[in-house]
Amino acid sequence: MKTINVLFVCLGNICRSPIAQGIFENKIRNLNLTSSFEIDSAGTSAFHLNSDPDPRSTNVLNKHGITLKHKARQFIMEDFTRYNYILAMDHLNYEDIMNLSNNKNHDSKRVFLLRSFDNNKTDFNILDPYYGLDTDFEEVYQICNQSIDGFITFLNNEKLIHIHSNNNMAL
Ligand code: 4NP
Repeated sequence: MKTINVLFVCLGNICRSPIAQGIFENKIRNLNLTSSFEIDSAGTSAFHLNSDPDPRSTNVLNKHGITLKHKARQFIMEDFTRYNYILAMDHLNYEDIMNLSNNKNHDSKRVFLLRSFDNNKTDFNILDPYYGLDTDFEEVYQICNQSIDGFITFLNNEKLIHIHSNNNMAL
């Protein structure tokens, strides 16, 4: 069976996109849909290649009962064909990704701002917390969590997945 392939992208691939990846993997596991998905994250830069997630990202995930194993990698051209949904954390990431594309017509249908799925958004960007405080990482967690709930609802509305009504609690 074909999987739905989802890639979360930020600048360094150590703060925001690993948080989003951990949240999404956890929700998909709780929905018993792990085998229907391929999930990963990447950075537009090569600043932190092969690094573990920032300890503040790991801590905020752990605080919410989520563990994640990931080594930072850079976004590559093959990701345009491999992933059905490429979810950028902010406008800069979005533009950096689209600037790499040599088939903008095709790729613009798969690259989105993650926060465009956040029903309670005040902004479309998920701000970079790298130079911030632990509270900024908690805020990134909350925004990613809301956005991912919206994304899962979108997949369900598009009939790409089927969530039983008694399973909404998993979100
Ligand atoms: P991220 O955060 O894009 O959410 O992983 C950053 C991590 C590192 C840097 C910038 C942003 N940096 O400049 O090294």
